Amino acid sequence: MKKNIAGRFVLLVVLLMGGCAYLGAHGPSIHLYPDVHAGITEDGECLGCHHPDAPQGTPTPHPNLKGCLKCHQDDVEQEE
Ligand code: HEC
Ligand code: HEC
Repeated sequence: MKKNIAGRFVLLVVLLMGGCAYLGAHGPSIHLYPDVHAGITEDGECLGCHHPDAPQGTPTPHPNLKGCLKCHQDDVEQEE
């Protein structure tokens, strides 16, 4: 029973932030490019390089989403 709570919380957050199109979806991980993303731990930094108006990397198709790291850092545990 209890082990499902974390999963449901993630689902809720995803729904709130991304809508149904992103249900359960994970984007490509920033760790595909570890050199570029070394030391980047804040959502606010992402758009500096990925905003469609001034992209230095791949422009994001969803600049208005919050919580980039929740969907884009698979395989790593981040310390708060
Ligand atoms: C709810 C999960 C979620 C959130 C939050 C999210 N993304 Fe994504 N992102 C995805 C998914 C899934 C894809 C791949 C599908 C697509 O292109 O729409 C993607 C694609 C991308 C791509 C393009 C990758 C490619 O190969 O074209 C970039 C860049 C990106 N996201 C950056 C960001 C940034 C920056 C933020 C925060 C402002 C963010 N994402 C927030 C799920 C998310
Ligand atoms: C210093 C600039 C910079 C910052 C800050 C940055 N990125 Fe990137 N990102 C890049 C570059 C450059 C690439 C590689 C693009 C390529 O070569 O296709 C990349 C690649 C990516 C990709 C893979 C895109 C693909 O084509 O598959 C994702 C997803 C992504 N970044 C998400 C993020 C997220 C989320 C953040 C914030 C935590 C972030 N980036 C912060 C520059 C940056």
